[in-house]
Amino acid sequence: MYHLAAILSAAGEKNPQMAWDVNMKGLENILELSREMGVKRVYWPSSIAVFGPGIPKVKTPQDVPLIPSTMYGITKAAGELFCNYYYERYGVDVRSIRYPGIISNKVRPHGGTTDYAVDMFYQAIEKGHYTCFVRADTVLPMMYMPDAIRATLMIMDASPKKVTYHMGHNLSGMSFSAGELAKEIKKHIPRFTCDFVPDFRQKIADSWPQSVDDSRARKDWGWKPKYDLASMTKDMITALKTRAKQGKPPS
Ligand SMILES: NC(=O)c1ccc[n+]([C@@H]2O[C@H](COP(=O)([O-])OP(=O)(O)OC[C@H]3O[C@@H](n4cnc5c(N)ncnc54)[C@H](O)[C@@H]3O)[C@@H](O)[C@H]2O)c1
Repeated sequence: MYHLAAILSAAGEKNPQMAWDVNMKGLENILELSREMGVKRVYWPSSIAVFGPGIPKVKTPQDVPLIPSTMYGITKAAGELFCNYYYERYGVDVRSIRYPGIISNKVRPHGGTTDYAVDMFYQAIEKGHYTCFVRADTVLPMMYMPDAIRATLMIMDASPKKVTYHMGHNLSGMSFSAGELAKEIKKHIPRFTCDFVPDFRQKIADSWPQSVDDSRARKDWGWKPKYDLASMTKDMITALKTRAKQGKPPS
């Protein structure tokens, strides 16, 4: 069972009570159902939002104190403990990844702090301009959707001997600043311009790591990303232009 529904970080800060209710009650429902029905394996994504200030920002280790500054991060940190409890107490085989910001050419982002890394592509193609809501020097860990899907299937397919950790696994794809992303897009769309006008999401971005140490995922279940900034940007732009020509805009 794959349980993905959640209220994300920026949307969660607008309504923290709802974020807590949806994210925690939703997870509780899934864990309880899995226990009662004997579901073989459960997937629930955590996030880099579990991290807060005061820990190493570069190559953030797997095991550091989790003191997130958003309600979304609190639900993910508590959710990891909740999953681990169900594994230890009831043997529910829950598996989890701390996704970085996910970049997709199929769906527009909804209420996350890393949405700018997706929106920038759509606006570059549609308008040739983007106003980014974080500073140009903001560096965050990101991952292209094909890598995120592959990682998710890899951890779910791995034998229980290999997945002995039942909280969220750190997982890295690539790290870049918002300014570097704008420059990379400009290589493909020379008319593209971008300005940077930080809003409340800057504070959230500043509380997260710039990169994470995912050596546990690499060693235990063989994780290795395929996409970097250049290959992801090329693929995103090709895919979005093709979809636009076919009259199939992203949902
Ligand atoms: N997108 C990212 O960059 C990212 C990063 C880290 C973790 N994650 C996690 O991955 C999962 C999927 O994220 P996403 O980017 O697809 O988010 P999304 O906002 O695009 O999708 C979340 C889905 O949850 C549904 N939902 C919200 N409240 C619900 C409710 N009460 N009942 C039923 N459905 C409800 C929404 O309708 C939406 O379809 C989430 O658990 C999120 O925390 C995403």
